[in-house]
Amino acid sequence: MKNFDPADPIAKAPGITYQEVIDQDVDPPAPAVSRYHNPVDLGVQPIKASNYTSREYFLKEIDKVWLKTWQYTCREEEIPNPGDTYVFDLVGRSVLIVRQPDGTIKALQNVCLHRGRKLATHGGCKRQLRCPYHGFVWGIDGSFQHNPFEWDFPQIEKESFGLPELRLETWAGFIFINFDPDAKPFLSLLGDYPEHMEHFRINDCYKALHLGKVVDANWKAVAEAFLESSHVVATHAQAVPYSGYDQVQYDLISDHVTRFVVPLGVISEAWSGPEHLSDEQRVRLALTNGSRGGPPGRDLAKSIKPGQTMRNYLAQMARENLERETGYDFSDLSDGEFVDGFSYDLFPNTHIWGGFTVKICYRIRPLGLDHERSLMEIFLMKIKPKGTNPPPAQYRLLGPDEALGDAPEFNGSYLGGLLDQDVANMGPQQEGLRALGPDGELTFGRYTDMRCRNLHRMVEQYLAS
Ligand code: FES
Ligand SMILES: [Fe+2]
Repeated sequence: MKNFDPADPIAKAPGITYQEVIDQDVDPPAPAVSRYHNPVDLGVQPIKASNYTSREYFLKEIDKVWLKTWQYTCREEEIPNPGDTYVFDLVGRSVLIVRQPDGTIKALQNVCLHRGRKLATHGGCKRQLRCPYHGFVWGIDGSFQHNPFEWDFPQIEKESFGLPELRLETWAGFIFINFDPDAKPFLSLLGDYPEHMEHFRINDCYKALHLGKVVDANWKAVAEAFLESSHVVATHAQAVPYSGYDQVQYDLISDHVTRFVVPLGVISEAWSGPEHLSDEQRVRLALTNGSRGGPPGRDLAKSIKPGQTMRNYLAQMARENLERETGYDFSDLSDGEFVDGFSYDLFPNTHIWGGFTVKICYRIRPLGLDHERSLMEIFLMKIKPKGTNPPPAQYRLLGPDEALGDAPEFNGSYLGGLLDQDVANMGPQQEGLRALGPDGELTFGRYTDMRCRNLHRMVEQYLAS
C-alpha cells in the first residue's frame, strides 16, 4: 500500500473537493472528524472475477477470513436480562450470545456435544441450555449440568464437558465475537474510528429499524454496493441534482476501517443534471425525493433566503427536524454533520455510518454456505429522544418478492426505495461476474473504488496468513 504521493497524485474529480465544500460552509466550522483525510493509493491492478464466483476461493475465505475476523452479532440491549440469548449463525457455524447473571456476556458454541443438534434455533430468555433432542443440559455459563443417561457415558468428565467459548468484545453497545482465540483485540484494529463515532454520539443511539433481505450475489459484491458513491450517477439518478458525488472523499482509517464522505446540496461538475434548475428547485427535488435534508413530501415552508446556499438550507431543515425529534440543541454542529453521508465499514462486513441525522448500518454475510447468495441486513441507529430509552427494533426478514421500499418499517423514509435501487444491481452483477468465466477480470477506479479494493486487499492478506 502506498501512501498518497504528491508527486504522483491520484487524479482529482472536476470541481471542488469535500474539504473545499466544508471550507465554504457557514459557521459553526466543521469538526476534526470532518477534516480527517487520509487518501491512500492502492493501485490499479485488475481484480479477479473469480474472487466472487469461485467455490474454492469462498471455502478458503471461510477458514481464513470469516473464522478469523471480528463479527458483529447483536446489540447489548437485545439481551438485557440474565439468561437472554441471541443466536448468531455464520458460514454454517452457530453461536449463542448469552447474558450472564453478573451482567457480563458470553459467546458459546450453539451445538450440543452429544449428537450435534443445535441447542437453540432462536433466542429468548433461558434458565438453562437444554438440548431438545435427548435432554443434555448446560448452564447459561456453558458449564455442563446434566445428562439423563449418565450411567452410559463413562467418558464424560463434567468439568471438561462445557460448551466451547468464543472470544467476545463489546463496543458502543455492539457485541462482536471472533472464532479465532488468537485474534488481535477488536479495538486495536479500528484506528480513530471509535473517536469518530463518539463524536457522532453513537453511545446515545438506539436501533430504530432492522430488516433482512436475501440477495443473489457474493457477499463482497453486496458490500461493495455501499463502499462507493459513484453509483449515484446511474443507480440513484434522481439524487444527481443535489448530490456531490464528484466531491466524495475516500479515506483509510486503518487496514480494517475505511470511509467515504459524500456531501449533500452540492452540484457536481461532471454532470449536474438539468442545468437550468435553480437552487430552490434542487432543494424541492431533494425534499420531494427524500434525503438527509428531510423526509419526502415535506413542504417548503420557507424558501431559500437570498444568499443562502441550498446546502445550508437543507442542513438547517435537518437540524430543525433532529432538534424537534430528540429535544436536544444542535446549534453547535456544522452543516455537513447533518446532511453529509459518513459511510464507514469495519472489515469484513459491518458498516456503521456516522453523521447525526440517521446512522445507516449494514451487515452482510454469505447465506449459510452459499457463495453466490448473501443475507443483507439494514439497521438504523438513531439518537434517543431526550429522557427516553426506546426499545430496539425487532428484526424481520423480508420475503423474496418484498421490496424494501414497501416495508412498513421504513415509515415512508426514502431509504427503502433507495436500497431497492442498490439491490437491483446485485443479481445482475453476480450473473455478469459468472459470465466473465474463471479468468475474467474487473477494472476498479484508483480513487472511487479504493474502499472496494481495500476489501479485496484485506481478504488476500487474511488468505495469505
Ligand atoms: S443431540 Fe443433544 S442431547 Fe442428544
Ligand atoms: Fe446506493
